[in-house]
Amino acid sequence: MEAGTAKPAQRIGVPREIFQGEKRVATVPEVVEKLIKLGFQVAVESGAGDAANFSDDTYRAAGAEIVKGAAALWATSDIVFKVRAPSTDEVALMREGSALVSFIWPAQNPELMQQLAARKVTVLAIDSLPRTLSRAQKMDALTSMAGVSGYRAVIEAANAFGRFFNGQITAAGKVPPAKVFIAGAGVAGLAAIGTAASLGAIVRANDTRAEVADQVVSLGGEFVKVEYEEEGSGGGGYAKVMSEGFQQAQREMYARQAKEVDIIITTALIPGKPAPKLITAEMVRSMKPGSVIVDMAGEQGGNCELTEPGQAVVKHGVTIVGYTDLASRLAKQSSTLYSTNLFRVAEELCKAKDGVVNVNMEDDAIRGLTVIKDGNITWPAPALKPVAAPAPKPAAAVTEKKGGHGHGAGAPMAGSKLAILFGVTAALFWFVGANAPEAFLGHFTVFVLACFVGYMVVWNVTPALHTPLMSVTNAISSIIAIGALVQIAPPLADGQVANEWMRWLAVAGIVLTAVNMFGGFAVTQRMLAMFRK
Ligand code: NAI
Repeated sequence: MEAGTAKPAQRIGVPREIFQGEKRVATVPEVVEKLIKLGFQVAVESGAGDAANFSDDTYRAAGAEIVKGAAALWATSDIVFKVRAPSTDEVALMREGSALVSFIWPAQNPELMQQLAARKVTVLAIDSLPRTLSRAQKMDALTSMAGVSGYRAVIEAANAFGRFFNGQITAAGKVPPAKVFIAGAGVAGLAAIGTAASLGAIVRANDTRAEVADQVVSLGGEFVKVEYEEEGSGGGGYAKVMSEGFQQAQREMYARQAKEVDIIITTALIPGKPAPKLITAEMVRSMKPGSVIVDMAGEQGGNCELTEPGQAVVKHGVTIVGYTDLASRLAKQSSTLYSTNLFRVAEELCKAKDGVVNVNMEDDAIRGLTVIKDGNITWPAPALKPVAAPAPKPAAAVTEKKGGHGHGAGAPMAGSKLAILFGVTAALFWFVGANAPEAFLGHFTVFVLACFVGYMVVWNVTPALHTPLMSVTNAISSIIAIGALVQIAPPLADGQVANEWMRWLAVAGIVLTAVNMFGGFAVTQRMLAMFRK
């Protein structure tokens, strides 16, 4: 496993996932090419990418060797890339001295850890990555899979829900926007908020960690607070079990939301603990018929009392979706993101780009990932030094502006670009001012100001409100009524007679503009009313 100049290139093997219903594949053709550039050889089991729409031919074209059968694949691989933790049969196929990069969940799978150690292999558990290290973000498969799952949860909800998400006024009647409540605004919850808001729903969210409130708002949601003062952070960006008093206050708030909203998506988890039960059977009963609950915490026992993990069931007229394979249901996307995360791990393991991995236990990220080294269980890794502790910052960078740590070059670059743009614009204005005729200058100033005001108005309005914005600007455009008013009684020179035709045309103009004006404001009011709670 150690790096050595004379060592031949190692072979990365990608088996077909055998877990029931698993559609993802650990490496996609695009990443095969990148791994080959790192110096590795890549072998893919025939059919490994079929369920995610990557054919053997596309892997072959990317430079991979297609191997028939799992036994041959495992036997000839120095490093195996996998999605799901290996089964007992798969562990038996592993070659002594080889390495495995996969989801493992060592805390939940002590037996698997013993089996793997007995094979004298090295295992990197992608779920054990120290996520708070900003350098490790590119390898963070938990985050990329949670993002896909959050998106898919909204799509599942939309599929089970019998109405539009966005509010609409059609010739056939008015449709109010759907109201979506998201419980838990971690990675998956934030992805769900962004997706539901972009579909036009009214989105509300709650989390025990108050620091996520800004992120909820920046994605187009509204943060609903529990009226009870208690800090919900359990360290490392994760939650803790809350006091009974808080839970009582939270249940009351959730009960109110359940009565009001159409869709609830729950994502609340506490590391190492069963998922908190947030939605009681009583709350489900109180929801409107046709409502939907998507419980993303099914595998950890569910956030809803009535969830049946892995199933979609209808209870009390409410569809409760408890699928535990949401990422796999978007297999092409999740495979692409996952394999990019694994490629980043490969890059860290093979800094020399010579196709030979070096598991450097001095490196914090690699140390955290490595749960078994040459047959010795090295999990859990010692806690990271406090320097790396401030957790929420990097996550905030995902949703808001770049330029936090980890994006060191971002801020100065943006600043210098802005300065150049400002300089060029100023020079342009000076040139126009110095050379253009005076009459032109007046119009030009109005034009530039109009562009600026227009830009500020449109870009500061949430996209969901662009339709009412259009109707209100339409109403405002009725300012042409002023022109018509002037024509009704134009200022006349001595002895000049008003043109009757002009006057009646002006009257007609005022009537038409009035329709536009009052109609525009009325439609705007009706549209805005749909967005008000
Ligand atoms: P998770 O999947 O463990 O939990 C999901 C969410 O449920 C969390 O936001 C948690 O606060 C919330 N929750 C738990 N109990 C709840 C309750 N009773 N009521 C309402 N909400 C409850 O966490 P996830 O999504 O994997 O990560 C959570 C946070 O960890 C992120 O938001 C971020 O701050 C931090 N993180 C930091 C990273 C980094 O520094 N690179 C990477 C990943 C996560």
